[in-house]
Amino acid sequence: MAKSVSFSCTACGAAHTRWSGRCDACGEWNSIVEDTPLSTGPASKSLGSKRGNAIQLTDLSAQEVPPPRTNSGINELDRVLGGGMVPASAILVGGDPGIGKSTLLLQAAARFAQAGLKTFYVSGEEASAQVRMRAARLGLADAPVKLAAATSLRDILTTLEAEKPDLVVIDSIQTVWSDAVESAPGSVSQVRAAAHELTSFAKRKGTSVVLVGHVTKEGQIAGPRVVEHMVDTVLYFEGERGHQFRILRCVKNRFGPADEIGVFEMTGSGLAEVANPSALFLSGRGDPSPGSVVFSGIEGTRPLLVEMQALVAPTPHSQPRRAVVGWDGARLAMILAVLESRCGIPFAGLDVYLNVAGGLKISEPAADLAVAAALLSAREDVALPADTVVFGEISLSGALRPVGQTENRLKEAQKLGFTTAIAPSGGKSVGSSGLKLMQMGDLTAFVGDIFGA
Ligand code: TYD
Ligand code: MG
Repeated sequence: MAKSVSFSCTACGAAHTRWSGRCDACGEWNSIVEDTPLSTGPASKSLGSKRGNAIQLTDLSAQEVPPPRTNSGINELDRVLGGGMVPASAILVGGDPGIGKSTLLLQAAARFAQAGLKTFYVSGEEASAQVRMRAARLGLADAPVKLAAATSLRDILTTLEAEKPDLVVIDSIQTVWSDAVESAPGSVSQVRAAAHELTSFAKRKGTSVVLVGHVTKEGQIAGPRVVEHMVDTVLYFEGERGHQFRILRCVKNRFGPADEIGVFEMTGSGLAEVANPSALFLSGRGDPSPGSVVFSGIEGTRPLLVEMQALVAPTPHSQPRRAVVGWDGARLAMILAVLESRCGIPFAGLDVYLNVAGGLKISEPAADLAVAAALLSAREDVALPADTVVFGEISLSGALRPVGQTENRLKEAQKLGFTTAIAPSGGKSVGSSGLKLMQMGDLTAFVGDIFGA
């Protein structure tokens, strides 16, 4: 029988029957590599003799009360996990190298251990002595966490079988290698095999497994994308280098709401929770300046005020620049087009720069109106009053659409000393907040009222 060969994409994990230069599934170039088969045992043609158990859903609810979650006491982490660590769950924490994953997970491991979980921290990148030094620097030297420096999957699983921990952190999944797979550590087949073994260990033994994964733009090291499908929860640890904020963002969670974020601040002694991120993201704002607008957003279940900054300047080039940091470039193009065709405000011949202050990434359409306000304010060189927040979605017709959680957005703004909110008309009536609410139906009315254009 001819040896069957399969291929997979290092960027998205899609399986292919033959090699090609570009992955059909994710569009990435040069990311397809040959798989090495996991098992070399003889293929069996007959059905298995062991019969699986089938149980009624209703029986399950009566018999198996879900085991309790454990809180680490780090609120920003517990909330992102959906209310603490679920037993037997598999969690992937992805992020750029050097962003602070090891620091975060060592701190989390220590706190979970102090909360009563038997915790194991397996480092494939640092020797145990180095991890201990880091722990000492973080003031966690006496936390009851067991350390191991290991990269062999077999060794790790043997140790875990013997130790039976409640929680194990694998830092990182790219360093773990299985001797059943031929390719080099860090390759897709190795990462997939290791993640598969570790997640099935989690389910079998009731241990929660946290896998750390490095994300790289180049497809060389297998991105943790292939692992995302296997685990219950996917968290990304992100932040701009040079900023001290770090955001732990949940993108998938079988046990709680996705889209939740936790905000941390980097300090010399590790990551500190930021209980009031709005105040942090708005700190350092001086006098009102043209192009700066405060957006009252919602991240997960929590309101968050951020400053949107725009700069509009005549371009020296034939093709004007559109540069965006922290927001969607396509969405910016859409808002510029709506301003141009519905309100008659052209941006041709002008460079446009948009930045979300503090290194935050915003994906809510509710930021549309704040972006439009920042663009207009920069273009007209008119500052919006400093005590005003803005939110609302803009449709292609130029109409303003109401957005969810208006009440929470207003409450947060009021809490931080804002007195006026500009929002779309319609939507739920908002009663109790003491803010002056300026409601507008479309973008033309907004431009006329606020900028007198
Ligand atoms: P590290 O946790 O090693 O990053 P990763 O595991 O994602 O590669 O952190 C990188 C560096 O930043 C390390 O030298 C420690 C430093 N650091 C701090 O000093 N304070 C902090 O709060 C954090 C998160 C990191
Ligand atoms: Mg690390």
